Order: sequence, then C-alpha cells, then structure tokens
Amino acid sequence: MSKATTLLTQFASDVLEGLQAEDKSLSSKYFYDAKGDNLFQQIMHLEEYYLTRKELEIFETQKHLILNALDDGEPFRIIELGAGDGLKTKVLLKYFLSEGVDFKYTPVDISGNVLEILEANLLKELPDLKIEAYEGDYFEALAEISDNPEKDVVFFLGSNVGNFSGPDAEAFLAKLQSYINPGDLLFMGVDLKKDPAIILSAYNDTKGITREFNLNLLDRINYELDGNIDRDQFQHYPYYNPQTGECRSYLISKREQEVIIAGEVIEFRPWEAIFMEISKKYDPKELSVLADSLGFEPITSFYDSQNWFSNVLWRNL
Ligand code: AVI
Repeated sequence: MSKATTLLTQFASDVLEGLQAEDKSLSSKYFYDAKGDNLFQQIMHLEEYYLTRKELEIFETQKHLILNALDDGEPFRIIELGAGDGLKTKVLLKYFLSEGVDFKYTPVDISGNVLEILEANLLKELPDLKIEAYEGDYFEALAEISDNPEKDVVFFLGSNVGNFSGPDAEAFLAKLQSYINPGDLLFMGVDLKKDPAIILSAYNDTKGITREFNLNLLDRINYELDGNIDRDQFQHYPYYNPQTGECRSYLISKREQEVIIAGEVIEFRPWEAIFMEISKKYDPKELSVLADSLGFEPITSFYDSQNWFSNVLWRNL
C-alpha cells in the first residue's frame, strides 16, 4: 500500500469513528490540507490572533538571552517539530549564525512540500546554515535521528502543545522524552491564561477565517471521502473555559440531518455538536508542575511584554 493510501485509510477510519461516537468529534490534525495550510497562514496574520506575534516578539527582543540559556559552548543540534514556514525560528537561526555558534538545524514536518519551501527560503537568506530536513511523523523522525552524539535542543513552538488536552500533552511529552538523552533540552512555546475575551476572539475572528478553517475540514471530508455534507448547515462555536484553560471549537448541526461519508450514513440531532479542536492555555505554575511530573528540569522561561505567551526551556533529567 502506498503512503498516500495508508494515510487516506487512516483519515477515513478516524473520521467515521469520530462521527459515529456518542459525543461526535473530528481531529484538528486533519485541518491542514493545502487549503487549511493557507487558512492557517491567514490566521497567523489576523489582528485577533496574538500568539504568533507574541512569540516573534520574544525571539526578537530576547534572542541573546535565549542563546545564553541554550548554548554551553559545545556544538548542538536543533530539532524543530512542526517547522511550518519557519518565519519565527529564522530570527533565532540568523542570530545564532551571526554569533558564530556551531549548530545544525533539523526541521521535521509531515509535509514534504512545506519543508522544501522552508529549506529553499532559509538557504537563500542564511547560506551558512547547516540544515537537514526530515519529512514525516514526529516520532518516526525522532526514532531515525535520535542516535546523535551532540546535545539536542527540541523546538516545539507556536503553542502546538496546546492542541493536546492536558493528559494528552503529558503523554506526548513523555513519549518525546523517550527519544532524547539526559541533558537534552526542550524549548516550547506555550500560550498563557489571560483575559478570556482576548482568548475567545483569537478563535472567533471578525473576518471569519477561523470559522472557515473549521468548516474546511467538512469540505475536505466531502472531497476526499466522497461525502455530501452541507457546510451551511453547521455553525462554528468556540468556547473558552477559564478554569481549565481550554478553548474548544465545535461545529454545531443547525438542524436534524443525515450525511453520507464513504458510504456510511451519519445522523445529526438538531444542535448536536462536533468537537473540532482544543487550544489549551496554561498558567506558569501548571507548567512547572508538568515539567516536574515528567522529569524535566525547568531552566528558564521567556515572556512577551504583556505576559500573554511564554517560551519555556526545560532540561531532560
Ligand atoms: C496550530 N495551533 C497552535 C493553532 C492554535 O492556536 O491552537 C491552531 C489554530 N486553530 C484556530 N486558530 C489557530
């Protein structure tokens, strides 16, 4: 079976399993087809979506402090999980090179297309960068590249960890830890709890791009799994719980309806919801408890000028 066929089969079974469950859900990891990638790029430029801007501010204003915290004078390798367009990371890479730091950069992404563009762009601007991109699933990539004598610094930026629930984030980080050595570092971008209105509007922008980002998964299902979902019969509804820090997005069926996906009939009651995505916000205390329980030593944390976003640096014990 080709890789594309395996992925399609997995997509079909995940979608059907999610929509046949008592509480319906779809996995936000499927948001990112070509249209979804493009919508996410648009989201990152939205006024309401502060996350990208805040992390960029941290890198631009504190790159010297970040380097001091990462660098012990020995060569190291940066592994970036979910590298995307590398716009923010480039600020750090450029600075590290200008300081004569000896490091390699290994971006990992599921999309070979994204990696090719990233590599070409980076090499155009930073011809001295030692880059070895890796296409594939994070853990497949880590399994292949983890045998490395140098110190690894794993970058997991952009609040990507927020797309896991608390327990799933813990399980993901524990698995990640099993691929790295004691002394290796984790540099992670985390969105913080703040005024709920600010958080909610980041996921409910006035231009409706986030709504479109969610609805696009219904279009993808129609297109790739021979579905007949009428996207106009679903309403986008994000909801923030200030206690758990979970911002959850739903698509809600506006009426009783039946849809067909890959030959299977799925029924919706009026106002029945599909859970689409979690974007969890942390408070700094919760992060140090998490580090502790996993066996990471928190070294330092960097904050933007409003304390809206943080990049934490943890050492694997
Ligand atoms: C990729 N991830 C960190 C984004 C987030 O903020 O959870 C995805 C996103 N969903 C809606 N807007 C952006």
